[in-house]
Amino acid sequence: METVVSGIRPTGNLHLGNYYGAIRNFLKMQTENNCFFFIADYHALTTHPKPDDLHGNIRQVLAEYLACGINPEIATVFIQSDVPEVTELYLLLNMNAYVGELERTTSFKEKIRKHPDNINAGLLTYPVLMAADIIIHKANKVPVGKDQDQHLEMTRRFARRFNMIYEVDYFPEPDAYNFGQELIKIPGLDGTGKMGKSEGNGIFLADPPNVIRKKVMSAVTDAGPTKMGQEMSEPVSNLFTMMNVVSDRSVVKYFTDKYASCEIRYGELKKQLAEDIIRATEPIRIRINDILTDNRYLSRVVKEGSEKARASASRTIREVREIIGYKTF
Ligand code: TRP
Repeated sequence: METVVSGIRPTGNLHLGNYYGAIRNFLKMQTENNCFFFIADYHALTTHPKPDDLHGNIRQVLAEYLACGINPEIATVFIQSDVPEVTELYLLLNMNAYVGELERTTSFKEKIRKHPDNINAGLLTYPVLMAADIIIHKANKVPVGKDQDQHLEMTRRFARRFNMIYEVDYFPEPDAYNFGQELIKIPGLDGTGKMGKSEGNGIFLADPPNVIRKKVMSAVTDAGPTKMGQEMSEPVSNLFTMMNVVSDRSVVKYFTDKYASCEIRYGELKKQLAEDIIRATEPIRIRINDILTDNRYLSRVVKEGSEKARASASRTIREVREIIGYKTF
C-alpha cells in the first residue's frame, strides 16, 4: 500500500471547489492507500497570525471533512499541531534549506507582495514545514492542486538532499497525485478564475439553501447570445461548468440547446443550477451540523488520529535522529 498525505489550511469553510476538486479524490484514495489527512493549523499562522477563532475554524473544517465522507476508521485524520514531531523534523530540515531557494519560491514572493507588512520567517520556511508534513510519514503521493506543484518539488528536493548529505536512501520522493486528466476545476461565481475561500465568489458546503439561491442568482453573466452557435463568454461557460458537475445530463443539454438557439434565459438557468447545487450539497450540510453538535465524536476522532499520526511520525524522528548522529548516553 502506498502512503498518501494531504493537508488543508483552516482558513475558511470548504466550498464546492474543494469538494469536487480535492475531497472527492481523497474519498477515492482512502480505501486503497494508507492515508493521512490533516488540518494544517501551523501553516495557517503564517498568514493569519491572530486568527479570530483558530479553534472554531479547525473544528469547522474537521467536521466538514468528516461530513464529506473522509472516514477516520480507515484514514488517519488529525490536526497538525497535535503532532509535535513534525516541528522537530521541520527544524532539522531547516538546517539544509537555503534562504536563497526559499526566497525564490513563487508563493513566498506573492505573499510578500500582498502583505509587505508581515514578511515573517514562517512564511519563508512554509515549504520546509510542508515538506516535513509529507516526508515524516514517508509519503509517496500527495493529492494537491496545481498551485502546490512548486512546494512539492521542494519537498522532493529536501528529501533528496537529506538522503545525499547523510548518504542514506531514507526518504522517498513524493509525487503530486492528480487522478490523471479529469481533475475538476470549479470556477467562481464572479465570472473569472476559480472558486476560492476568501475571494467572495464561492458556495460553501455549509451554506443553507436560501444563501445558495441568492449567490447563484447574483452570479455574473452577459447580455446573452445574439448569433446561433455563438461561443460562450467566460462567466456563462463557468455556469455551465458547474451545471455539468451537479445537474443531470438532460438538464445540461436543455440549456446548451437553448443557448445555441439564442433562446436561453439566464434567470431560468440560474434557478435550476441553484436547486441542483442544493440537492448535491444538502446531505453534506446536514451532516456537518450533526457532527458539530457531537463533541464526543470529534474529540474521539482527533485523539485517535493524533495517536496514529504520532506513532508514524515518532518512528521517523527516531530514525532521523539516529541517521544524523544523535546518540543516547
Ligand atoms: N500548502 C497546502 C495548501 O495551501 C497545505 C498543506 C500544508 C499541505 N502541508 C501540506 C498539503 C502537506 C499537502 C501536504 O493547500
